[in-house]
Amino acid sequence: MSDRYLNLVNSPVGSAVAARVGLPQPSVLRRYEAGAPILPGPVLLGSTSPKPAAGLRKAVEATGAEVLDLAGEGVKVAAAVLDARSVSAPGDLARLREFLQPATKALAANGRVLVLGTPADGADITADATRQALDGIVRSLAKELRRGATANLLWVQDEASLPAALRFFLSGRSAYVDGQPVLLGAGTAPAPADWTQPLAGKTALVTGAARGIGAAIAGVLARDGAKVICADLTQAGEALAKVANRVGGTALHLDVAAPEASATLLEHLAAQTAGLDVLVHNAGITRDKLMANMKPEQWDSVIAVNLQSQLSINAALLDSDQLNQQARVVCLSSTTGLSGNRGQTNYGATKSGVIGLVRASAAAFAAHGDSTINAVAPGFIDTEMTAKMPFATREVARRLSSLQQAGLPVDVAEGVAWLASPGAGGVNGQVLRVCGQNLVGA
Ligand SMILES: NC(=O)c1ccc[n+]([C@@H]2O[C@H](COP(=O)([O-])OP(=O)(O)OC[C@H]3O[C@@H](n4cnc5c(N)ncnc54)[C@H](O)[C@@H]3O)[C@@H](O)[C@H]2O)c1
Repeated sequence: MSDRYLNLVNSPVGSAVAARVGLPQPSVLRRYEAGAPILPGPVLLGSTSPKPAAGLRKAVEATGAEVLDLAGEGVKVAAAVLDARSVSAPGDLARLREFLQPATKALAANGRVLVLGTPADGADITADATRQALDGIVRSLAKELRRGATANLLWVQDEASLPAALRFFLSGRSAYVDGQPVLLGAGTAPAPADWTQPLAGKTALVTGAARGIGAAIAGVLARDGAKVICADLTQAGEALAKVANRVGGTALHLDVAAPEASATLLEHLAAQTAGLDVLVHNAGITRDKLMANMKPEQWDSVIAVNLQSQLSINAALLDSDQLNQQARVVCLSSTTGLSGNRGQTNYGATKSGVIGLVRASAAAFAAHGDSTINAVAPGFIDTEMTAKMPFATREVARRLSSLQQAGLPVDVAEGVAWLASPGAGGVNGQVLRVCGQNLVGA
């Protein structure tokens, strides 16, 4: 469903009218295109430390972007990266203002602000309080930036996952990720032979792949080199076959909530693959009702499909010999699981439950040959589900994020693909919002 308002305010007349009467002016977001450079312009690189870290400069240069140390007069930068890992007392925060004030002015449309911080470690109250301040700076700045620009924060405990994280956050792959902190911890995070094919040689399985976000995830994982098994209900047969054909993968009829789901899955993996590298728990349903009117079957079906299935399949896989080392599991949550939503107590339960699931399972997956499990929480995404909303509700919902527009299924898929990649090995047990920084709730 195309966003006619967005198209209108990006026309010369529409843009002038919107500016004059103070209406939201969402920009057309820069999204990933195969073969295009990661950044369309230079990166301004700064540090709060007098001795900037050489490793970061090298990692930024490796993206192919030109690195600038000073914002020149009239020069527009595609990104501003600030290494703020050295801050340890409130006075140090002035260094962020000194860098970000001119950097924000120099930022081109669809620019990226990326701040690196040291995560709190409990050793020093003043240092931890100061480090945590970065979160408020980045989230607030994300709300100020316009013209498709975003601001995100990397808590760097270990640099192994930095190259893959930079490629995600600086490129169009993170178009709809805004105001998001991510912890880069320890973990095996090998660089791929070819950064455009990070999933080459990997086998991935996506549930609920016949349409919407699942179909987009299957497409992006295949684009990144994976062999994709597209799984969905038997009823989705024809649509599922089309997606599987389009992505050069295979189709599997699998009702994730059926009692035999795990056995079916394991049998299929044993017969058809050399083990699973990437699992995306995307299948999900809504049965919205106010709690006062909620029927048992509306409650039970949502819990069974959205939460219990993920728990059961994960347990069966970890117990089997079908999950490869350094596997990546990505679970679809929702911003409803972070902020709640009227009429969605059942759905909210499952989407919060998924966040609990990834946090609680991280250690078990790490113990399985340095595997990871993370959640992606989409906000308002244009799909068949949201196309059914009344016009006015949809129009309002679309504007309620810092980017003033809905995301596309491909935006969620790009977030999933980053977490599914070998280079994201230090990201475990976390939640990546793909919500354009929803202004309500999270
Ligand atoms: N669309 C959004 O704005 C949005 C926002 C937040 C989270 N999400 C989450 O993203 C995921 C995908 O959402 P979508 O909008 O693409 O939904 P969708 O309804 O368009 O597609 C869901 C797919 O899952 C399949 N499915 C349903 N029950 C299944 C089962 N028991 N076994 C196997 N497959 C099953 C359906 O057949 C369908 O193909 C869901 O988990 C959803 O909760 C979506």
